[in-house]
Amino acid sequence: MPAFQTVRGMRDLIGEEAQIFITVISKARETSSLYGYKEVITPHVEPLELLSAKSGEEIRQRMFIFKDLGDRQVALRPEFTASIARLATTALKNEPKPLRIFSVGTVYRYDEPQRGRYREFWQSNYELMGSAKPEADAEIVLITNSLMQSLGLQGYAFKIGHIGVIRGILSQDGVDEKTQNAVLQRMDKKEYDAALKLVESEKCRAMLEGLLEIKGKDWQDTVKQIQSYVASYEKAKVATENLAEVLKLIAESANIPMTVEPAFARGLEYYTGMIFEIYIPQLDLALGGGGRYDKLIEAFGGGPTPAVGCAHGVDRVAIALQTQKTARSSQKEKKVAVLPITENMKSEALKIAQQLRAAGLTVEFEVMGRKMAKALEDADKRKVDFAVIVGERELKDGAVVLKDLANRQQSTVPIDKLAEKIKS
Ligand code: HAM
Repeated sequence: MPAFQTVRGMRDLIGEEAQIFITVISKARETSSLYGYKEVITPHVEPLELLSAKSGEEIRQRMFIFKDLGDRQVALRPEFTASIARLATTALKNEPKPLRIFSVGTVYRYDEPQRGRYREFWQSNYELMGSAKPEADAEIVLITNSLMQSLGLQGYAFKIGHIGVIRGILSQDGVDEKTQNAVLQRMDKKEYDAALKLVESEKCRAMLEGLLEIKGKDWQDTVKQIQSYVASYEKAKVATENLAEVLKLIAESANIPMTVEPAFARGLEYYTGMIFEIYIPQLDLALGGGGRYDKLIEAFGGGPTPAVGCAHGVDRVAIALQTQKTARSSQKEKKVAVLPITENMKSEALKIAQQLRAAGLTVEFEVMGRKMAKALEDADKRKVDFAVIVGERELKDGAVVLKDLANRQQSTVPIDKLAEKIKS
């Protein structure tokens, strides 16, 4: 039989790569609890109808869809937001608002595989439901900022916009919602010519072209430019005011590097307000993104529930950390190998191993029954820090031999002082 491979676009994570994922996931979880988010676990498989309802054409075309044996149309989740919105209309319906929900796990999209783009990838996801206030939008951006900081990422910057600005222009110039969605879809992919071709009104096309020119790092100045540019577009004006409130809160509460881009769009259709993505200079792919979606929960049969959220691509954050070599893996634990000299020392050696583990040390017990020289050679290869050699002679005095594998020095240490000695 040929050696099996993983399915295209899906990866095994082993060794250091797995460690980096674990670090990112645990930082994401720590961040969620710092902001009061409760973690939920939802199924990987959901009804197709739920996942495709408001996600947009782009996601609909890239879902892994199948019929289960009961003839139900189901799909692998391409994101978490739909599942969390489903929860908000069912199990969490009567929970007091705001609801702060965190989740982390794999999601699935039939994207073209390349570095940073996979068909199975990990997201850490935060949803804040029940508030229409700009401080809720600001919180989601601040969470992303906290996560990036806690990981030690350098030089990252936010790209921030508001979907209401483009939609406001399009709707006032008579572009129907379906066409608006198609335009936004193309703008998200930076296919601006194709986007503009879908707009019949020349005036509207010119407006969009002009909007594409506006972007800036000084949020106050950029907001002023947008305000005067959309002065005769009522809905776009309101959207800009809302964006300004969010930006003010973000800028005044933390030093967050950002570019304000009113013509920036995102692939998902459910957004109604502020949207953002985050980038580092070394990678031309978003590490995360999110925004406000005030109509999704209502569309799923809940009461009117404004909401805002974001997701971070763990795979891409891992690449960013590797690129910047700042992966702060959790403090290196000392690793110990416990080696009985003879067969009849096994039980005593096991007992010592358990004592060391109870003291918080990582202990590998010799389970291969190898001779001492072989076992030591192997411990060396696997970067074990200390070998604890359990022999009859020392044991009579309540002691063992402790060998520091880095400097090859060894000494006889009383068992009750062993953990302390290794840790020092
Ligand atoms: P999204 O922008 O589609 O948003 O995905 C979030 C992040 O997932 C991206 O910024 C990227 O880092 C990562 N990602 C997306 N596609 C891939 C891929 N093929 N391979 C690796 N990483 C990928 C959402 O999913 C929204 N649900 C976020 C949200 C939550 N909005 C409101 N609440």
